[in-house]
Amino acid sequence: MKNQNPQTIYLKDYQPPLYLVEHTSMTFQILKGDDVRVTSKTQFIKNHDGEENLVLNGEHLVLKNVTLNDKRLESGTDFQVDNETLTLPCPGDSFTLEITTQIDPEHNTALEGLYLSQGNFCTQCEAQGFRRITYYLDRPDVLSKFTVRIEADKATYPVLLSNGNLIEEGDLDQGRHYTLWDDPFSKPCYLFALVAGTLVHIKDEFTTKSGRTVDLRIYVREGDQGQCRHAMESLKKAMKWDEDVYGREYELDRFNIVAVSDFNMGAMENTSLNIFNTALVLAHQDTATDFDFIRVEGVIGHEYFHNWTGNRITCRDWFQLSLKEGLTVFRDQEFSSDMNSRAVQRIDDVVKLRRMQFAEDAGPLAHPIRPDNYIEINNFYTMTVYEKGAEVIRMQHTLLGAENYRKGTDLYFERHDGEAVTCEDFVKCMSDASGKDLTGQFSNWYNQAGTPEITARGSYDEEAQTYTLTLTQYTPPTPGQDTKKPLLIPVATGLIGEDGKEIQETTILELTDSTQDFTFENVSSKPVPSILRGFSAPVKLKTDLNDDELRFLQIHDTDGFNRWEAGQTLALRMIGRMLDKTEKGEEPETDKKFITSFSDLLSQALEEDSDKALMARALALPDIAMIAQERNVVDPTMIYEVRKQVLDDLRRSQRAKLESLYRQNNTQTTFGISPDDMAERALKNTALAYLSTSERREDIERAKQQYDTAKNMTDRVAAISALINKTCAERKNVLAHYYEHFSAHALVIDKWFSLQASGIRKTTLEDIKQLRDHEAFNLRNPNRVRALYAAFAMNNPVSFHDVSGKGYAFLTDAILELNETNPQIAARLLTPMREWKRYTTDRQEKMKAALIQIRDTDNLSNDVYEIVQKSL
Ligand code: TRP
Ligand code: ZN
Repeated sequence: MKNQNPQTIYLKDYQPPLYLVEHTSMTFQILKGDDVRVTSKTQFIKNHDGEENLVLNGEHLVLKNVTLNDKRLESGTDFQVDNETLTLPCPGDSFTLEITTQIDPEHNTALEGLYLSQGNFCTQCEAQGFRRITYYLDRPDVLSKFTVRIEADKATYPVLLSNGNLIEEGDLDQGRHYTLWDDPFSKPCYLFALVAGTLVHIKDEFTTKSGRTVDLRIYVREGDQGQCRHAMESLKKAMKWDEDVYGREYELDRFNIVAVSDFNMGAMENTSLNIFNTALVLAHQDTATDFDFIRVEGVIGHEYFHNWTGNRITCRDWFQLSLKEGLTVFRDQEFSSDMNSRAVQRIDDVVKLRRMQFAEDAGPLAHPIRPDNYIEINNFYTMTVYEKGAEVIRMQHTLLGAENYRKGTDLYFERHDGEAVTCEDFVKCMSDASGKDLTGQFSNWYNQAGTPEITARGSYDEEAQTYTLTLTQYTPPTPGQDTKKPLLIPVATGLIGEDGKEIQETTILELTDSTQDFTFENVSSKPVPSILRGFSAPVKLKTDLNDDELRFLQIHDTDGFNRWEAGQTLALRMIGRMLDKTEKGEEPETDKKFITSFSDLLSQALEEDSDKALMARALALPDIAMIAQERNVVDPTMIYEVRKQVLDDLRRSQRAKLESLYRQNNTQTTFGISPDDMAERALKNTALAYLSTSERREDIERAKQQYDTAKNMTDRVAAISALINKTCAERKNVLAHYYEHFSAHALVIDKWFSLQASGIRKTTLEDIKQLRDHEAFNLRNPNRVRALYAAFAMNNPVSFHDVSGKGYAFLTDAILELNETNPQIAARLLTPMREWKRYTTDRQEKMKAALIQIRDTDNLSNDVYEIVQKSL
């Protein structure tokens, strides 16, 4: 084993902290990029009857001084230090420990703790970054009030921020200055934050429902302030929404957001000082796509909502991560639904869940939304904890109904404000407030991994005028969980009559057994059931509906999600049949009826009053990753070719309508980001994408023309996408122009990398290698790494899974380099390799060899070790 000490942490070993913290007072003396002195004066109280040692966490620290109740202590005699801890014999019932450490933010490439991003200091303490700042009880159930003093050179670091309220600021000798911050709310240290640097800000205000005025600021680098308005508007909308929908008010004087360009994740909810990846703050029509605008709004909401779900009430231990993340994702999804189109939001969320979380659930790293063990907690910020976690909250909302759900959250906030709690505590509140007990069978959702499979069979009894739906459930085994218990699954169901009218409006069937019958009375003719409306549970549904019935639902279902879903199921079924044929060496053909439905959809989309956003989704074929999930053995190239054949057939037969659709939606003269504005662009660009699957001159010219005349980034990116698989000069020209024109905007250049990394051409692999050596590429910047490597390995299955294995080798090199500098990002990049067993044998062998090569490397980080080990 190459890794030194990969220890597994178990939920069952949880013990309450032996010591608690009453107050923490810190001083940061910023001297240079590589020299910051941190003094933390912490008041501890003993929290047990015996005389156990005090063990503090600390890593990558230079220890300068330890003082206990004003008495200086000697290392080796009074206390012991190793690479991970500082241990002190029990110093009594209550005592003050003052510790001075020296840290080196400039060489902190892991971007955890205090680090430099483009010359500015910032922190990332979740999950365990605070221990890289000082020795401390770095665990979420130790809560403390913090006072923070920051001192630095005034000219270089004019802005000095921390959590809470600014209570003092002033000048010091030698051109230095200081600020003093006080956070009146107790918090675990993972919510600590500090920012010091040269930043500009935009300012606004929000008046809360009880009349408090909150000072809102967004800090960015000089030059970026023109791209902050959307984030600020989103923040105000989020604050209002949380008051309206959850009754939650903001209770601090300030809310600061700081955008930094070097960040491992999307954003971080530090109390009143959220730190964001620039990618999730900056948004302007010239540089951001509609997708970016929506994401910024969603993530601004997400981090703001954490103020109550995460900060005011936090997690007892990291196994409870979904307590805050699942709940907060559900809250941000609902916020986005209310701000935009509900059906479209649901479709997009479900697509994400299926593509990424279902894949995780089916692979070697499957885990429940509350895992029971981990080696590296950073590896558990997963699709399962976040996205499936949100589905589990959504199911509670569905089972209780909006009103009782709200009673449940009211009780949760009332009962647990200021505490660090567990997922059980949340479910208990839901149950106590509503009178519906979810602490029994429903709680299996927290402990059981794997995606449940539901089958539905319907039978109509003409004589009795009843319709019976038989539902069965089965959850396949996952690593460490061979047998599964049946779950309580809410299956939202409606019935549509022969005439296309709804005869049974949505009702929630509660599936609790392995097999269960549900009978509907007074059904006068054989209905078509619409099952799992709005995707009411994170399951795979197989029905006995035939293609004609699905086409019927595609037109008549009153549930927007299920109308879309019927079309997707039809497409998946047909492509599945075509792939079966291809595997047998036969010639597949696109189903005539499928083409007819597509044509009908186009006609619908062309109507004046069509729901354009929904139409754009409905017209799109499932992507390669979605199709791959339905296959026993995945051959991405074969899927690509069959899918391409369908696209070609649709385009050839529907060219006239596609061209009209493009023209009809290509009339915008001013830019707006209302849902209607975005929907129109989405529909136009869907038409463009279909038309651009050809090699015809006119189609290439249309895309080029769109690029040349684009007045916003959405249209520009769509135009480049339309050309990206082609070998024509136009592709090269637009890419060159784009690079020239936008070289000053890092986020825009990220798109330039991603677009190229997603191309499918004979030379893609070679081109991508050149991008790795491009002057603008930088392995230290996570956004750039994601732009090239994640886009390639996750969004370009055809090129990445090239049978030569060159794609795997390319990714492996990056993972090994990042293992040394930024293990969190290295481990993330392993994601597409985790499912190696699902591919054709030639690909399997090459991926396995790459994984073994990584496993056998010296100095493997815990992050990479855990993923590789579990994958193999
Ligand atoms: N809590 C953050 C969120 O809102 C996640 C996060 C941000 C994070 N940065 C991180 C998690 C670094 C682990 C490491 O979802
Ligand atoms: Zn979060």
